[in-house]
Amino acid sequence: MRILAINASYRGDNGHTRFLIDKLFKGAAEQGAECEVVTLSKKNINICKACSVCQRKNHYLKCAFDEKDDVKPIFDKMAGADIIVFATPVYIFGISGLMKIFLDRVYSTGDVTDLRVSKSGLLFHHINHAICSKPVVTIVCCDNLEDETPKNVKSYFKTYSKFMDAPHVGALIRNAGIITGHGKDPEKEKKFPKIYDVYDAYEQAGRELAEYGKITRKTENQANQEIIPIPLFKYIKKIKPLKRKFIDKAQNL
Ligand SMILES: Cc1cc2nc3c(=O)[nH]c(=O)nc-3n(C[C@H](O)[C@H](O)[C@H](O)COP(=O)(O)O)c2cc1C
Repeated sequence: MRILAINASYRGDNGHTRFLIDKLFKGAAEQGAECEVVTLSKKNINICKACSVCQRKNHYLKCAFDEKDDVKPIFDKMAGADIIVFATPVYIFGISGLMKIFLDRVYSTGDVTDLRVSKSGLLFHHINHAICSKPVVTIVCCDNLEDETPKNVKSYFKTYSKFMDAPHVGALIRNAGIITGHGKDPEKEKKFPKIYDVYDAYEQAGRELAEYGKITRKTENQANQEIIPIPLFKYIKKIKPLKRKFIDKAQNL
């Protein structure tokens, strides 16, 4: 099993996103998976200028930037992988700009005039299945606690998966990064002991990917659990009058 993670954090190898990928890969490697991380912030990635050269007969499905930047080799790696992990921090309620710039370049790999119907029944066009249709796992991290925060990113990859015929085999959504120190502050983590259970779940998710090619719902729920040490916080956090109290408590932690 070859698993490729695309890390779209500008903090690259030093960020929370990478920390979470490493947890996942620890478990996957234990089960014999070959794991590789592409750190987009270290790559030279041009923005798609919508020149549509890639749609012309004399340059068919070749981007004007092929051979001029690092995107084509990343697409080649995606084609060689069995599972792709798209890992992004939430940036102003969406995927990071780096992820968007990278994924926009997928445009050059499909003939947009050759209409097709996707496996999920959506009207679309030709795509390069070798690059776009691998099973997808998403890792999303953010600092806020509201379910609303990662919503657009979750939905983005669900849509990607439906149009691209790419089975969505796991969604790992980690909130509250700032209060647990983004994986870099053991003192902060001690105040939120459920985070260790979360990290265990990431490793278990990696083992499941390596063994079965998908993450079980149980492991996903464990990874995505609330880590705030207040009983039923998942529900309590939705009650507006209690939020002020929560903020006061949190600021005194
Ligand atoms: C430009 C920018 C925008 C951000 N927007 C949000 C946001 O809308 N909601 C949120 O909860 N966190 C937001 N964050 C925080 C990051 O999502 C969070 O710190 C994440 O863990 C960063 O991952 P990284 O360390 O891998 O970069 C933002 C951070 C940056 C730099």
